[in-house]
Formats: sequence, C-alpha cells, structure tokens
Amino acid sequence: MNTEHDAVGGKLVVLGLGYVGLPLALAAADAGHHVLGYDISESRVDDLRAGRSCLVDVDDEALLAHLGAGTLSVTADPSGLAGWDTYVICVPTPLLDGGPDLSMVLAAADLVATCLTPGDLVILESTTWPGTTRDVLAPRLRERTGLVPGEDFHLVFSPERIDPGNQDFPLTRIPKLVGGMTRADSERAAAFYRTFIDTVHVVSGPSEAEMAKILENTFRHVNLALVNELAVLCRETGVDLQEAIDAAATKPFGFMPFYPGPGVGGHCIPVDPVYLTWHARNAGRTLRLVELAQQINRDMPRHVVARVTDVLNNAGKPVRRSRVLILGVSYKPGVADLRESPAIPIAETLGRLGAEVSWHDPFVPEDQDLFGPRRITELTESVVDDHDLTLLHTAHSCYVPADLARGDRLLLDARTVLDPVPSHD
Ligand SMILES: NC(=O)c1ccc[n+]([C@@H]2O[C@H](COP(=O)([O-])OP(=O)(O)OC[C@H]3O[C@@H](n4cnc5c(N)ncnc54)[C@H](O)[C@@H]3O)[C@@H](O)[C@H]2O)c1
Repeated sequence: MNTEHDAVGGKLVVLGLGYVGLPLALAAADAGHHVLGYDISESRVDDLRAGRSCLVDVDDEALLAHLGAGTLSVTADPSGLAGWDTYVICVPTPLLDGGPDLSMVLAAADLVATCLTPGDLVILESTTWPGTTRDVLAPRLRERTGLVPGEDFHLVFSPERIDPGNQDFPLTRIPKLVGGMTRADSERAAAFYRTFIDTVHVVSGPSEAEMAKILENTFRHVNLALVNELAVLCRETGVDLQEAIDAAATKPFGFMPFYPGPGVGGHCIPVDPVYLTWHARNAGRTLRLVELAQQINRDMPRHVVARVTDVLNNAGKPVRRSRVLILGVSYKPGVADLRESPAIPIAETLGRLGAEVSWHDPFVPEDQDLFGPRRITELTESVVDDHDLTLLHTAHSCYVPADLARGDRLLLDARTVLDPVPSHD
C-alpha cells in the first residue's frame, strides 16, 4: 500500500455501495488506498463480489481486478469495520412523510461510532439539509463515543456531485467541496480527496458545503419548473420552445439552457429541494419559489397523460383500451435508475384510465418488475405497430424519433410534451 496515503486516509471504509459509494471506493482504490466497502444489503454485496456493479459508470473488470488484488473488499458484516482510519458515509437520504429521512445516515453513524478511535476521519457525503453535520451527526458521534468532533477526531461534510452516465465528468474530474468542523478537519479531508480528485475546494464549515450541494440541485429544479411551465404555454400559443431555448443559449453569458420533460426524477432533483424547504420551514420561513417549482414539476406527469389522451382522442381513439407503449422508464437517458421516475405515475394514471400500457427500457435490469404493466424485452417494428400510441419518455440513444413516428404511427416525445412527432416518411 502507498505509505504516503496512510497519513491522508489510506485505510478507508465506504459505507453504502450505490451510485455514490461504489465509484468513490473504486477511485480511492485506483489511487492506492486500501478500501473496505460496507453495505447493509447482502444481495448488493453478493452482486459486487460476482463483479456485477449494476452501474453504467463502473467498469466491472476494474471492480473484479481490485477485488482480486485485495485493494478493495466488500462486506455486509459490520464486525470488520474496526481498526480503519477513514469512514465515508454514502447512504441514501430519502423522504419520509414529506420530510427528510436521516435514519440511514444515523444507522451508519452509529456503526462508525462503534469503531471510532482518536485521530480518525469521518466524512458524510450523503446530500442533506444545511446543519445536519454540525447539529445532528456531531452530537450523535460525541454522545456514542465520548470523543469530541474537531478535537479528538475529524468530522467533515463533502457532498458527492456525481452525474451518473456523464462520461465527460467522471468523479475524479468534478471539483470536490469540503467543509470540516474545524480548519484542521477540512485540511485532513482535502488531503485525502486530493489523492484521487483533481480539484478540492474548501469552504468554511459543513453547513456551507451542505448548502452548496442543495443549492446546486434546487437551482436545477427551479429552472426545470420554469421551462416545463413554458412548454405548456408554448404548446397552446404555437411557439417552438426548443428552438427558443437554443436561441437564448447563444448568449455567451447570463443564461444556461434547461429543457422541458415529463417531470423530474432520480434521487436528487425531486428530493433535495424538499430537504431545503423543510429546513426553511423549521427556521420559520417559506421558500415560495422552491415550493412552487415542486408543484409545477409534480404536475408534469399529469400533463403528459392529458397529452396522450388528447392525441388519442384526435385520432378517434378513447384512452380506454388503447394500447400505449412507453419507451424508456428510467429518470434520465443512459441510466437504469427508476427512483422517482415520472414514468411511474404516468403509467399508473394511464392504467387507471383503462389504457393497456406496456414498456421497454434496455437499461433496466431484466429481473426488475416495474409497476405492473407488461414489459417488452425486444423492441421491433411490429411491436411499435401493435400499439395505438408510443410515448418516448426517456431519450435513450437507441430510440430514433423519426423511425418511431414512421407512417401513421402516433408518437409523443415527452421532452417536448408538445404535439405528436410528425412522420418523416
Ligand atoms: N445517485 C446520484 O446520482 C447522487 C449524486 C450525488 C449525491 N447523491 C446522494 O448520495 C447519497 C447516496 O445515494 P446513492 O444514489 O448512492 O444511493 P444508492 O441507493 O444507490 O446506494 C446506497 C447504498 O447504501 C446502502 N445502505 C443503506 N443503509 C445503509 C447503512 N446503514 N449502512 C451501509 N449501507 C447502507 C444501500 O443498501 C445502498 O446499496 C444520497 O444522499 C444521495 O442524495 C446521489
């Protein structure tokens, strides 16, 4: 093992081996750290041991090579976590009853507390509301260990900003934000991350790092709500919004293009702004703009269903008993992630209206049952012809709108949620 890294987190435990934890574990192992990956899910650990990462960005050969070389080991057994010196928590932070659910962060922290020794480094990477590290994690670790964060051990928040499926920006090329309880904590974590990440940006404390991450995703959420609302307007007024956005994007400053869609999905965009509005309400404030954006984005699947109904109706077909094919069900192109995907409420609502819904998605694992509707495993011309309408929900690169709209087929492209895509025959 690289002894230079011993001082900066050489023996590293990553807790949670999903979209965030596994790429981190591999990048650290690539840099010469000795990494133990821990996940509560035995089936996840079994998959990883068999070289199945189930993530588009992770090279299964690299995973197997590290497992074979012993630079990375994975376990669902919590008893082997003592004696390591850096603990990085990458577990989910979902919603529960419309508010933050930190139960998995707390469970991981409690486990870390059983192993913590003076001088160790604890990093939280899970996205959360500003104040979590200082006001929740620090007292929890102190209470369970008797050790003082910032004095006896280092405690840091460092958000993960990975964009699964984005090959231009792998984890190592995305600047890493680091906010420690003390300057020394930040410096220790920054030194660790610099061993495998090109740029590290240190902020004054964990709350600033937490706010930075949640601001990034809320910025995206609000701007998506803006173009989604404009898409509904432009359909009625006959303006080509796509063209207008591209035209606006020629301005070299002060504008960033966002494109409309069937709603927002994934673990981050629909969830993180709720952490922020919850946090604001606790502080006696209402973030009206953010809450309105949530409402607009949540309404988009309903708008898509209304468009499907209209287009069928215009073709003289009632939605009841119409056969609707949904192409792509993951929340964005090129990934298998179904979390919060708008395809789920769209399919459910169409089903409730009596449509016969089927779906196809080459990225979603074979054994994944979705939400009841029939899965199409092989997309052929006759499968498309066999349906009354095709809804292109997720623009995976294998779907070619011009082909899907051939002849008198009905195709709705959810990225525009405008008019049926014209046939190019
Ligand atoms: N997915 C993304 O693109 C992305 C990007 C940036 C930040 N984040 C944030 O990172 C965090 C993790 O998200 P993810 O997408 O990697 O989630 P994930 O569901 O892909 O993976 C999380 C893993 O943690 C495991 N786990 C749950 N509780 C655990 C515990 N107590 N101890 C150990 N393992 C446990 C789960 O079994 C799962 O395998 C979330 O806060 C998320 O908001 C996600």
